Amino acid sequence: MSGDSQKQDLSKVLEEAEKLIKDTKNLSDLDKIRVQFLGKKSLIMGLMKTLSSVEIEKRAAQGEQLNNIKEKINFLLSSKKSELNKNSNKDKDQFDVTMPGKASAIGSLHPITKTMNYAIQIFESLKFECVEGPEIEDEFHNFTALNIPDYHPARAMHDTFYLENSFLLRTHTSSVQVRVMDEKEPPIRIIAPGKVYRKDSDITHTPMFHQIEGLYIDKKVSFSNLKGIISVFLKIFFEKDDLKIRFRPSYFPFTEPSAEVDIEYLDSKGNKQWLEILGCGMVHPNVLEMANINPDDYSGYAFGLGVERLAMLKLGITDLRLFYENDLRFLKQFQRK
Ligand code: DAH
Repeated sequence: MSGDSQKQDLSKVLEEAEKLIKDTKNLSDLDKIRVQFLGKKSLIMGLMKTLSSVEIEKRAAQGEQLNNIKEKINFLLSSKKSELNKNSNKDKDQFDVTMPGKASAIGSLHPITKTMNYAIQIFESLKFECVEGPEIEDEFHNFTALNIPDYHPARAMHDTFYLENSFLLRTHTSSVQVRVMDEKEPPIRIIAPGKVYRKDSDITHTPMFHQIEGLYIDKKVSFSNLKGIISVFLKIFFEKDDLKIRFRPSYFPFTEPSAEVDIEYLDSKGNKQWLEILGCGMVHPNVLEMANINPDDYSGYAFGLGVERLAMLKLGITDLRLFYENDLRFLKQFQRK
């Protein structure tokens, strides 16, 4: 091949290579082009191999031509390669709307919280104001001011968690009654929901549980008012007008007379059973006096509801401890209830 015709051929080769490289859309096609123009069997490499047989005067010039074109093609290939790489990374950053999404689990309120909220809502509609008191109490508010003096055997009825300096974890929400009577003048009409603590654990007891305390003090409050409000509350709560409710005489140091209230339900075998869900009574005159309320002018009723018991009956749960194991399979059943 003469030097001139080689020059012409090579510039055609370069032109063709330029065009192909420009039009390539992906790296594998680009590699095929590399093989076509610079691979072992390519025209350029073939000419390189035969350089040694070219006349000595022309060899240098031809060699230079070949090297130039090889460098140019190499340059075009590597710029195209980086361009294609850049584009493919851009694709990776793009959001693929067709990909299935990662579902995030939605939490919900605990069934006990829901039960409390529902009960509170009912009492608020019955014009009770919702108040809170401390879970760490002193003996005065938890016992003494509720007509349970030091020596009184009723203190033993409560399996109390004692803390230092005669503080304790409140054993009932009745302690809030005392705090409210200290702060407010009658008429008083409050509920006090919250956690209470006792050293107790079996199928119907956990060391921490929830109560809703109720207190109504005014002139001429009677036991029939108490019966009325409890019956109305329970019928709304269980959405059952013919709910069977039983007031059973009982004893609490802070009320006289006192009662426990049971409601009838069907157990898992379909048998009728009674379950105790609250204690109540007329506020003891000693309790009123200790709070500087004159029992000759005022009377009142009080009640303490077990929230877990309400929730068990409402949701059909037989073992109280299930509420506190935090097994999602259990909790998820009440997500929408
Ligand atoms: N405090 C009692 C308990 O925890 C429940 C109770 C009974 C509360 C009678 C009251 C009441 O307000 O009047 O067992």
